[in-house]
Amino acid sequence: MADIVAETERLVLRTIEEGDAALQYRLLDTPTVMARLGGVKELHEIEAKHAKGMALYAQEGFSFLFMIEKATGEMVGHCGIKRVDNPLAKNPGDHEVGWLVREDRWRRGYAEEAMRAVLDWAFGRVGAPHVVALTSEANVGSWKLMEKLGMIRRRDLDFDDPAYPQEDRPTILYSLTAEQWQEHKA
Ligand SMILES: CC(C)(COP(=O)(O)OP(=O)(O)OC[C@H]1O[C@@H](n2cnc3c(N)ncnc32)[C@H](O)[C@@H]1OP(=O)(O)O)[C@@H](O)C(=O)NCCC(=O)NCCS
Repeated sequence: MADIVAETERLVLRTIEEGDAALQYRLLDTPTVMARLGGVKELHEIEAKHAKGMALYAQEGFSFLFMIEKATGEMVGHCGIKRVDNPLAKNPGDHEVGWLVREDRWRRGYAEEAMRAVLDWAFGRVGAPHVVALTSEANVGSWKLMEKLGMIRRRDLDFDDPAYPQEDRPTILYSLTAEQWQEHKA
């Protein structure tokens, strides 16, 4: 049974379960959604990420989640918290937040709605002192959302990852502390 981590006006955020990789592969692993994230993944790569996420949730009580649309019961996105695990990053182990929304549900406010709940979770029950988010200059929708959530650009944490195509380099970072989130919400 999945755990329901949060509920918003239009979404339920639940933990990932065994067998969810096929759903992610079908609904989110599309060329458009994955365009700025190194391209589509193989099913086994998503299975490996989910296995890692389930182990993280068991050990530390946080992970990436599925966004379920209340009106239809359908999975419409993936978001949550993991630890920075890119070996090239300057801040390994920090709490990293991230998000993906199904292409046919873009620009409805789902990513923002889900992330407001994820940030409350991160700074509440999870107890993260600060979170970071990683993207590229070319991923305009993503960094605009970071700025809308009150996140601060951290040029000091940027790094270059040759695994990404030239147009998505370098990897750029934003961060947010628990205090900054409380101020932003007020
Ligand atoms: C980035 C993404 C998750 C946004 O999801 P979404 O549900 O459409 O976003 P929302 O409707 O909640 O938008 C919230 C804010 O984000 C910004 N934003 C989202 N999409 C944008 C776009 N295409 N262009 C510019 N700004 C955008 C805006 O500031 C927007 O606020 P506004 O509507 O008041 O202008 C979605 O486009 C996506 O899945 N992209 C591919 C995956 C990806 O790159 N994920 C990020 C990894 S770091």
